[in-house]
Amino acid sequence: MKAIAELFDGPVVVAASSLSLAEDELFPEERAHIQAAVAKRRAEFATARILARRALASLGASPVALVPTPDRAPVWPPGYAGSISHCADYCAVAVARSRDVPSLGLDVEDLRELDPSMRDLVLTPAERRWLRGQPDALQPMLPIVIFSAKEAYYKCQYPITRGFLDFQEVELAIAWPAGTFEARVMKEDWPAAVARLAGRFFIADGRVSCGVTLAQA
Ligand SMILES: CC(C)(COP(=O)(O)OP(=O)(O)OC[C@H]1O[C@@H](n2cnc3c(N)ncnc32)[C@H](O)[C@@H]1OP(=O)(O)O)[C@@H](O)C(=O)NCCC(=O)NCCS
Repeated sequence: MKAIAELFDGPVVVAASSLSLAEDELFPEERAHIQAAVAKRRAEFATARILARRALASLGASPVALVPTPDRAPVWPPGYAGSISHCADYCAVAVARSRDVPSLGLDVEDLRELDPSMRDLVLTPAERRWLRGQPDALQPMLPIVIFSAKEAYYKCQYPITRGFLDFQEVELAIAWPAGTFEARVMKEDWPAAVARLAGRFFIADGRVSCGVTLAQA
């Protein structure tokens, strides 16, 4: 079976599991951060922190609290990069030493059909034309793959730019059989280091998983 670590270029450690409400394993500041949230959100948050600490430990990092910034972006210990994704009953975390992998983006989505309004929001005109040329059997799942690939790109670029992008500002070129894509930003003055990034995806267990790596310069 394909593994999430294979979505990235470079040595990346992945930890993944179903969701659990293991709040007793959180640091006090993490518990305080999430205390007002609904149970599902607390489970996502707790599971992600436990998995992240496990993955970071295998790279030699000491256990520390992983409290996000006010804009929800994760904060990693100095010297490490990583990315978190959760869906209905699953969470995956990928981490690396930043000297090996300066930034990475992981997104996992339950396979589902996007409703027409979301498709219009997510797909650019060129992506819609590309989609129409693909085999009928693939049509229902392609929009969620494009959505997930753009989310993975967004998570990878964010630590570098701290900038917001909407779906229409990122265009994908997908090589379906190879399970690869390139994300290209169609916005003036976007930092060249992240203006085009390559990614990979695979579909398994009713989910699509996408990874984008910012490689060492
Ligand atoms: C951040 C975002 C991409 C998360 O994606 P999602 O599919 O909703 O949710 P996922 O479960 O896959 O990911 C959630 C994790 O993303 C991470 N995340 C949140 N904001 C982030 C950011 N700015 N940069 C990197 N990672 C971020 C967090 O670690 C979060 O998990 P946590 O709350 O437990 O720490 C999305 O919510 C968002 O804010 N998007 C706005 C921008 C956008 O989507 N533009 C179009 C694509 S170019």
